[in-house]
Amino acid sequence: MQVIETKAGTREALAAAGRPVVLVPTMGALHEGHLSLIRKAREVAGPSGTVAVSIFVNPIQFDRASDLEAYPRPMESDLAACRAEGVDVVFAPGAGEMYTGDRSITVTEKTLSRDLCGASRPGHFDGVCTVVLKLFLITGCEAAVFGEKDFQQLAVIRRMVRDLDVPVEIIGHPTVREADGLAMSSRNVRLTQDQRADSPRIRFALAAARNSESRDAAELLKIAREEIVASDLAEIDYLTLVDSETLAPVETVTRPATLATAVFYGDVRLIDHIGIEP
Ligand code: PAJ
Repeated sequence: MQVIETKAGTREALAAAGRPVVLVPTMGALHEGHLSLIRKAREVAGPSGTVAVSIFVNPIQFDRASDLEAYPRPMESDLAACRAEGVDVVFAPGAGEMYTGDRSITVTEKTLSRDLCGASRPGHFDGVCTVVLKLFLITGCEAAVFGEKDFQQLAVIRRMVRDLDVPVEIIGHPTVREADGLAMSSRNVRLTQDQRADSPRIRFALAAARNSESRDAAELLKIAREEIVASDLAEIDYLTLVDSETLAPVETVTRPATLATAVFYGDVRLIDHIGIEP
């Protein structure tokens, strides 16, 4: 496995690598969710293709300096995990390698990123789109794998690739969960024991709404909200029912919809969602 810190080195190594090159973009602190994306990438690449993983805590997608600072960066164990999964190339640049101080171009998606995480994290998806497009250009990948866990991110990236004619196939992969239902996240390690024990209620709240008879937004939101606010530790950032395709808020579920939430435990923000069928 090659570990490369420069853009030029990565470009050169991957230009000569077996095709297709399949990229898994990450911010590190790798867990089973990331590893499932890496396995999917190998399946798509095949034995003679190339699996590339990027590890870069992208400063321009963080809206809170405290979150960026506290973001875990266990590089040695991340590299060991990549090695164990048979990754071919890891691109792990420093912030100075990715961005010049006077950079002045940003990729902005204007519709899908408005609500949900986009509303509570101003500029977040600009940062995501900008770094993902750069990673595509640096690696020259033919395909890239993203988790459905970040379903708004996946929708925004699909839109970017469509609207800008980016020649990269976007592959979505299902959310991997802990045994108690909590969606795996690099931020989970920052939960206290009490917060961690309480956190499966997020999944439970979404499932309770989905499993109800109702397909009325107000009723679905009420069911989920009651389950979350029953905790002293959890605080809702947003809880919204949106159309699964347009991400626009819906009042009654007549087409596939998604019930999505972001919940704070202290200053740790966790997201999850569930599909609601008509
Ligand atoms: P990060 O949060 O590290 O996630 C990297 C990839 O792993 C994303 O595609 C995310 O959806 C996926 N992922 C995270 N948790 C998952 C889980 N429990 N199950 C399945 N997939 C999961 O998302 C980012 O980084 C960044 O925004 C990035 C795209 C790298 C741009 O900086």
